[in-house]
Amino acid sequence: MVKMEKIKLNPLTLSFAGDLEKTFSENYFRRFLKQVRFAVLTGVFFYGISGVFEAQINPETRGMLWFIRYAVVCPFGLGILLFSVFRLFEGYKQVLLVGWAVAAGVGIIEMNAAAPPSMHFFYYTSLILILIITYTFLRIRFIWAASAGWFILAVYEIVAVRFGNIPAAVLENSTFFFISANVIGMAVCYSMEFYARKDFFQVHLLKDRHEKAEQKLQTAYNEVRETQKRLIQSAKMAAVGQFASGVAHEVKNPLSIIVQGIDYLERESIPANKDQAEVLKMIKEAVVRADKIVRRLLDFSSPHPLRLVPYEVTEVMRASFRMMKKQLALMKIKVTEDFTAGLPLIMIDEEQMKQVFINIILNSLHAMPEGGEITARIYAKDLTEVGNGIGRRASDLFKVGSSVLICEIKDTGLGIPGDELSKVSDPFFTTRFSQGGTGLGLTITRSIVERHGGIINIESKEGQGTGVTVILPIFKEGDQGGQQQ
Ligand SMILES: Nc1ncnc2c1ncn2[C@@H]1O[C@H](COP(=O)(O)OP(=O)(O)O)[C@@H](O)[C@H]1O
Ligand SMILES: [Mg+2]
Repeated sequence: MVKMEKIKLNPLTLSFAGDLEKTFSENYFRRFLKQVRFAVLTGVFFYGISGVFEAQINPETRGMLWFIRYAVVCPFGLGILLFSVFRLFEGYKQVLLVGWAVAAGVGIIEMNAAAPPSMHFFYYTSLILILIITYTFLRIRFIWAASAGWFILAVYEIVAVRFGNIPAAVLENSTFFFISANVIGMAVCYSMEFYARKDFFQVHLLKDRHEKAEQKLQTAYNEVRETQKRLIQSAKMAAVGQFASGVAHEVKNPLSIIVQGIDYLERESIPANKDQAEVLKMIKEAVVRADKIVRRLLDFSSPHPLRLVPYEVTEVMRASFRMMKKQLALMKIKVTEDFTAGLPLIMIDEEQMKQVFINIILNSLHAMPEGGEITARIYAKDLTEVGNGIGRRASDLFKVGSSVLICEIKDTGLGIPGDELSKVSDPFFTTRFSQGGTGLGLTITRSIVERHGGIINIESKEGQGTGVTVILPIFKEGDQGGQQQ
């Protein structure tokens, strides 16, 4: 059994704190609208019918008594009934019902004052009846009903004392019973309202729980979907890899024969005219491109096993930039390196990690034809936030609290449009086909990073630049390690 939250309400007015009160009022109103109408109708009926007995017992004052009954109290009640069909009634319900109860009570007191002592018993009983209806049947809120009850009693006392036509002993006696009726009525009214509120509160809690459970279910569903998507993605990659390696193996040999043939032709038989030379050059370019694709495909589909040694990532990054130094200078690209000193060594395959950084740097270079700036940062971090690939899910590579090395390479290039961002590491996705792009650079990069037990995140703003973050695990001594060979 789940522990129920404790109900919080004002012990005197029984009001809930905050917005809940409004919801409760609306609910309570709707729930008891029919009962309230019926109670008013019953009240009108008995208030009206008792006039018949009155006429028999006390024919002299009949005119004044009937005026109170049939010109004031009964029409007031019928008016409430009529008004209750309008929405506006909800806001005035309490005031109207309390007003009506008080009018009925004061009416009886007036009649009592005008009546001979033989009638006291008759009115006294009617007044008790009115208190009963006010405290229970009309579903008036406790605080209002109690005010009405004591107000009626006060008026009774004042009128009795002023007119002095009730013998002291009778007055004492009736006062005692009126007070008792008020106390008992209050207790009944209080408990009725209290339990109605308690029921409402529990239903409300259950609803709330239900909503939360539904939300959790939705989140779980989304996670399953997400995982499914990733599985499909990795299955897709595996299929592409298998297919690619089949094709690449078949094509590799014929291609090298063609390349050799072209080389031979270029060397041995100088083409007769310029057109032939041009055609030969085109064939060679196309074949070199095909050869490049095939080699990359082979890289991706049957990668070299990782040769992991404890190594300094900053050193690999520096070497990668060194290798690109000439090209970067030529393209007027400024490089800023910001590496934290004394970072722990981590287990990496130096050559393959270099390929990762070079691929990323090359992409940045291609994205900045007019020059620009590349900022590289490497630092250690204890992951504290849930993010892309970092979190609580079993499928997340890193848990919050893992220690990692973060390698960022940011450029000030063209950026990647939002709809392309999710596709850039798909095999064969390239926007640089005409400039020799194969669309395999990031595919291979991602695959290498993942085989190192890391993740790669790409963020980009079109027209502003792109940031690629490689997150690599720092394995502490005794860790099992998540790296695949
Ligand atoms: N730093 C970058 N800035 C802008 N676009 C990029 C960047 N890196 C990658 N891209 C986009 O991603 C595509 C795929 O990159 P990649 O897999 O390396 O293939 P390729 O470089 O052969 O096109 C690129 O064609 C380019 O559109
Ligand atoms: Mg590339």
